[in-house]
Amino acid sequence: MAKNIVIVGAQWGDEGKGKIVDILTESADIVVRFQGGNNAGHTVIVGEEKYVFHLIPSGILHAGKTCIIGDGVVVDPEVLLKEIEVLKEKNLFRPEDLLISKNAHLIMPYHKKLDIARERLRGCNKIGTTGRGIGPAYEDKVSRCGIKCGDLLDEGEFRVKLKTNLLEKNHYIKTILHEDGFEIHEIYHKYMTIAQSIGPLIKNTSKFISDAIASGKNILFEGAQGTLLDVDHGTYPFVTSSNTVAGEAATGSGIGPSKIDEVIGITKAYCTRVGEGPFPSELDGPEADRLREQGGEYGATTGRPRRCGWFDAVALRYAARINGLDGLVVTKLDVLDNLDTIKICTGYKYKGEILDEFPTEASILFKCEPVYEALEGWKAQTQGVKSFDKLPKKAQDYIKRLEELTGVKVTIISVGANRNDAIILKNPFK
Ligand code: GDP
Ligand code: IMO
Ligand code: MG
Repeated sequence: MAKNIVIVGAQWGDEGKGKIVDILTESADIVVRFQGGNNAGHTVIVGEEKYVFHLIPSGILHAGKTCIIGDGVVVDPEVLLKEIEVLKEKNLFRPEDLLISKNAHLIMPYHKKLDIARERLRGCNKIGTTGRGIGPAYEDKVSRCGIKCGDLLDEGEFRVKLKTNLLEKNHYIKTILHEDGFEIHEIYHKYMTIAQSIGPLIKNTSKFISDAIASGKNILFEGAQGTLLDVDHGTYPFVTSSNTVAGEAATGSGIGPSKIDEVIGITKAYCTRVGEGPFPSELDGPEADRLREQGGEYGATTGRPRRCGWFDAVALRYAARINGLDGLVVTKLDVLDNLDTIKICTGYKYKGEILDEFPTEASILFKCEPVYEALEGWKAQTQGVKSFDKLPKKAQDYIKRLEELTGVKVTIISVGANRNDAIILKNPFK
């Protein structure tokens, strides 16, 4: 029976969604990105080759599967074109396999400038954004002055919308930021030139997905960022500007929520965060450095070193609730292979009391002290292991403890960056 599965990040992003989407695409017909933009960096490693996708769904390496950039995504057309070029150079681009929603909003050059300037103005309260214009593009969408991918197909409409936007944006940029504004002609020509390449891919993707569901296709919805970066349910204001939770898979693709069969959360066997904001189980000093180096924890989009810490079961239980997780994928178990002791954060201490529900208020989270449980490390290599019962006993115990603490069954365990390094306990499509 056909199934529609949603993949979401269950932490602060970079959980390994790209790798898992690539694996599951084999069982899917269609892969849909439903939110975020090129703030995302999704890594897929096949053999010696490494691919990092920012906008194109991570299923694109599988020929004959349709990859869709859905309604809820914000698209920087220059970045998209570059991503297409890289795939073309490697002979991996098949235009018939990629569709872009006409409803997806465009990231414009002024959005990037505003993103960077706002961060500067925030000073020590900065969010640590990726500087890709994501926030300002979503602001324009909600304030009803955004320009959509579909507008690229109508030169007159595009020009009028651009002109109206520039009146306001240039005024703000010149008078408040004291920086140079933008010329309409430059943006117009650049975007119309790009439209010649990507125009034929812009379609009514909501209808395409609905028809595919009706004809019994398997659909994989690929989330970006992570639950704790959700604009409503994350650690606001240290969040991204879209809904990253599973509910968004419906609105961000233009299908009804009743069509979704299962939601799978991706989590690392420990925790990372990029940018500012509270992170209760964060480590510093040599323990953090060790996780960072062992796990290669540097941003796939900005190259920034990721902050590292122990697995946070309080945050994960919250992610399980807010997404309605049916299953959990644990990645990067191999990164813990050499540790004597592995800790899990099981509660937060706040004002002398133990909280077991995750508080989303940044002001509270900053003051929460993690309560840890320590487990003995397994001190053996897990990469190359193909079944759960071949894992070292203590690694099995670690996974079982994560299941107990989060209340969610583990369905896949990833033990290396490569496509092949995975123990599949249950394929959600089967
Ligand atoms: P995403 O944004 O959720 O797709 O994750 P990123 O690609 O930003 O970051 C995950 C990083 O971990 C990438 O460099 C992956 O190649 C790597 N990775 C994924 N799974 C594993 C794993 O099980 N073990 C190891 N060592 N690396 C992994
Ligand atoms: P993937 O999909 C990790 C973080 C930024 C910053 C905050 C807001 O690869 O998991 P934004 O540019 O979105 O306005 O920045 O969100 N952030 C991510 N962190 N992984 C990501 O994506 C992220 N996308 C945004 O670092 O703290
Ligand atoms: Mg990433």
